[in-house]
Amino acid sequence: MTTYKFPHNFLWGAATASYQIEGAWDEEGKGESIWDRFSHTPGKIEDKSTGDVACDHYHRYREDIGLMRSLGLKAYRFSTAWTRVLPAGRGRINPPGLDFYDRLVDALCAADIEPFLTLYHWDLPYALHEQGGWTNRDVAYAFADYAALMVKRLGDRVQYWTTFNEPSVVMFDGYLVGEHAPGIQDPQAAYQVGHHLLLAHGLAVQAMRGVAPHLNYGIVLNQWMADPASDDPADIAAAQAAWDQSEPLFLDAIFKGHYPPQVYDLVGENMPIVKDGDMALITQKLDYLGLNYYSRNLVSTAGNVTPVPGSEYTDMGWEVCAPALRRMLNKINDEYDLPPIYITENGAAFPDVVTPDGKVHDERRLDYLKNHFIQTRLAMQDGVDVRGYFVWSLLDNFEWAHGYTKRFGLIRVEYDTQERIIKDSGEWYADVIRKNKVKE
Ligand code: GCO
Repeated sequence: MTTYKFPHNFLWGAATASYQIEGAWDEEGKGESIWDRFSHTPGKIEDKSTGDVACDHYHRYREDIGLMRSLGLKAYRFSTAWTRVLPAGRGRINPPGLDFYDRLVDALCAADIEPFLTLYHWDLPYALHEQGGWTNRDVAYAFADYAALMVKRLGDRVQYWTTFNEPSVVMFDGYLVGEHAPGIQDPQAAYQVGHHLLLAHGLAVQAMRGVAPHLNYGIVLNQWMADPASDDPADIAAAQAAWDQSEPLFLDAIFKGHYPPQVYDLVGENMPIVKDGDMALITQKLDYLGLNYYSRNLVSTAGNVTPVPGSEYTDMGWEVCAPALRRMLNKINDEYDLPPIYITENGAAFPDVVTPDGKVHDERRLDYLKNHFIQTRLAMQDGVDVRGYFVWSLLDNFEWAHGYTKRFGLIRVEYDTQERIIKDSGEWYADVIRKNKVKE
């Protein structure tokens, strides 16, 4: 049996996002977001559900922090709902919304859990959507004002500030494919949105540093590995092309100061309008990079190989492939000059059941996490500077267009009673954190 020991200050955590857990969608002055509107629109969510109540975390955050403590989490990654704080996205502040995050952060600090705050996990104020949403350059400036406001209020306790969660998903799922809010299908708009998200990121980092220069600022990107299906040079080229079309749009812009040359060929007439000075704003120095990893694509000239013979798949239909996480980390590390990395999401949805003993014996999730922790440790030995790891997710929650049909939690949520049950994977994770090591 091999034991993988982690560095003593490795930050073990779990992640959530505001719309997926908070509920209280219109309470205490909160404004409407694009996800409120989207889930209230018939036909958009698989099980016809909404995030109106979700895990009711807005009212149960103390209990949830108690659960985090019992898992021994060292850090908690969550997002703030822009519309709780600024109901119309700019202008009038809603004090009860700010107070909620203030109490949440205080309770985390009292529990000795490091808060990792994400400012945007997809819930754009609807009022800003009516002004063009992310296609409107002006929204980037509104975002920077919101960011500065949050740092002024919470920067004395929150050390880690993430601007965006997965800008590529906002751009592609929200504005190109339309399966996410605001449900638009317009390639030209999508690429302009991608640019405006990056601009908003740069402006926000600049604004937050103006308020609190000593804090840590970063962004969270979502990178699937693209593996070639064979040694055939054509498959290798196809895999490289698949990779190039995903996160490098964001990685190159942020860490190299220009869009990747191949994007121009790919995007053609949909290339966004980039104003003088934009790229300089986008390349603000960062203190960390967050990477979300779930799966990989196995690519041939004929497209993605699926299903991959012999592979296991999660409830999302994603292949389980832990070694690709190590390859992905090494590839990004080789190609860019990066700040320290945090794995800001990794986890799996499986069809859990509560057994008569009242427990959830989710060995498949436990194995998934174990193998991904090991591959991360191996990547660290290869020289990749990974400082922490956030399991997606703390709780079962609202999985976007899939509603409540997919369960990712370390903790089960019974949605009709809001009862929480720590799954076997959660108990096991607590043990990993306590011992700071994983055994194969
Ligand atoms: C993501 C999203 C999460 C999802 C998770 C599982 O960042 O993609 O942050 O909100 O729930 O990835 O699909």
